[in-house]
Amino acid sequence: MSTALDADKKNAFAEKMIGVLNHSVLALMTALGHRTGLFDAMDRFALHATAREIAAEAGLSERYVREWLGAMVTGGVVEYDPSGHTYYLPPEHAELLTREAPGNMAASAQWVAVLGSAEDELVKAFAHGRGVRYGAYNRFHEVMAEESARTVVAALHELILPVVPGLIGRLAAGIDVLDVGCGSGLALIALARAFPDSRFVGYDLSPEAVRAARAEAARWGVPNVRFEDRDLTNLNEHAAYDLVTAFDAIHDQAQPDRVLANVRAALRPDGAFLMQEIAGSGHLAGDLKHPLAPFLYGISCMHCMSVSLAYGGPGLGAMWGRERALAMLRDAGFGEVDVRELPHDLVNYYYVARPV
Ligand SMILES: C[S@@+](CC[C@H](N)C(=O)[O-])C[C@H]1O[C@@H](n2cnc3c(N)ncnc32)[C@H](O)[C@@H]1O
Repeated sequence: MSTALDADKKNAFAEKMIGVLNHSVLALMTALGHRTGLFDAMDRFALHATAREIAAEAGLSERYVREWLGAMVTGGVVEYDPSGHTYYLPPEHAELLTREAPGNMAASAQWVAVLGSAEDELVKAFAHGRGVRYGAYNRFHEVMAEESARTVVAALHELILPVVPGLIGRLAAGIDVLDVGCGSGLALIALARAFPDSRFVGYDLSPEAVRAARAEAARWGVPNVRFEDRDLTNLNEHAAYDLVTAFDAIHDQAQPDRVLANVRAALRPDGAFLMQEIAGSGHLAGDLKHPLAPFLYGISCMHCMSVSLAYGGPGLGAMWGRERALAMLRDAGFGEVDVRELPHDLVNYYYVARPV
């Protein structure tokens, strides 16, 4: 090791690492605040409240709530008045932390624990290189469904559907729609409810996700949507759909090239493929200024790349990037591709691809 260390550089990095330690645990505590309903409970108080009052409002143990509040106060999430030992969640923070808030980042904080649940398998995978299977992750589909409710379902009508010109009119008139890698099916169910004359199908590899999707569809009583646990690698449907959607479901495939070719074959000649994919540049140097780059590369390493590798795939990773996505769409038989960025979603590109 070199003896000529730059002391200022070392101190600055030590400060950064202290921030990393604080923020990593704060993320876990934020996820707990979401899951236990503590942020929602605090938001119902217009003024400062004691730990006992907050615990009573949330129906939780006061001792746990007080310790949680300690992390929230020292972490700058909750304000504290030492004179009366009272706590306050400012509305500006509540806008980013409560269930009702469209930009709820507390729900996204759950990813830290989801990824951590596979740590032992990941440590082994770093050595053997063969990836980690879906089953290793605790609560993956549940957290994914919450993410999807915010980034896809909430923006479907106003922002996402208009990306495909004329689509809303066609959906209203009645078309066939397939969602590949549909997960818990929230997007498809929202579409099926909004467009009763169209027919919707969702396929996903995970029986657990498909069970959740079917239960949700039954809860809403929507007759025009069905879900099946199917591997898209063997889709084998031809000119059957007017629209195929893929929300965050291509880069983690075991055979993404084959799935894209299957999607192309499943589309009717005037159909469209709407693909939501992570907005990486495809080059590490190009991602340096991305505000969420470490988060996205981390999720990619600990999940997206790993699950693809586990099933014999190329492990494209979440940050595979626009250039590669466009090249793969071209190779799969798509012609014109429109790539859009939407204001509600800093993380994804929306590709609209049409058969040649
Ligand atoms: C990141 S999740 C996205 C889920 C959903 N589209 C959403 O936005 O909530 C990717 C989904 O693709 C599914 N998947 C991966 N490979 C698949 C395959 N070969 N066939 C079917 N589904 C697959 C996974 O089970 C997972 O539910």
